[in-house]
Amino acid sequence: MKITAIYPGSFDPITNGHADLIQRAAALYDRVIVAIAASSRKSPLFSLDERVALAEQVLSGMGNVEVRGFDTLLADYARECDAQVVLRGLRAVSDFEYEFQLAGMNKRLNPDLETIFLTPAEEYTYISSSLVKEVASLGGDISGFVHTKVRAALSDRLG
Ligand code: COA
Repeated sequence: MKITAIYPGSFDPITNGHADLIQRAAALYDRVIVAIAASSRKSPLFSLDERVALAEQVLSGMGNVEVRGFDTLLADYARECDAQVVLRGLRAVSDFEYEFQLAGMNKRLNPDLETIFLTPAEEYTYISSSLVKEVASLGGDISGFVHTKVRAALSDRLG
């Protein structure tokens, strides 16, 4: 049986930590869907279309990876995509409580869905999109944390 994994998140913007996790997932699953949530409550810096376009550019070499935007329930969207697995990254123990709740709720909403956690490579454990945006906005060097296209988009947006 072919297995499709869905990797949801806000990706505002996609970081090297996300890309590392996606690359490893692409080696494990037949198909990986990077599902970018509208996440309007988080007031994203980039629009959904911009986040999708950036992720597509960063992940362009990965044949079995697709990038899609969605603004519905993840449990429903996974069903629509025929995904059997939800992937999430666990960077630290502090991620666990929220992730445990999310996995429980998704299981309740879509009992066919299994949540699988991957840990990031050690050098990416402290990266988050918010921290990258903050460092960029204060003129810090973010070249080790994001793709060059993302760095250019951030510098355009933040001036
Ligand atoms: N490497 C680097 N950073 C990572 C990472 C990784 N591997 N994995 C997560 N992060 C960071 C993100 O950059 C993000 O940082 P930020 O908060 O500073 O922006 C943070 O960890 C958490 O982000 P993310 O994984 O994008 O989760 P989220 O909380 O923004 O989004 C959704 C969670 C999208 C999965 C959830 O809101 C959802 O499913 N929404 C759809 C609607 C729905 O179904 N809701 C009910 C859910 S039960």
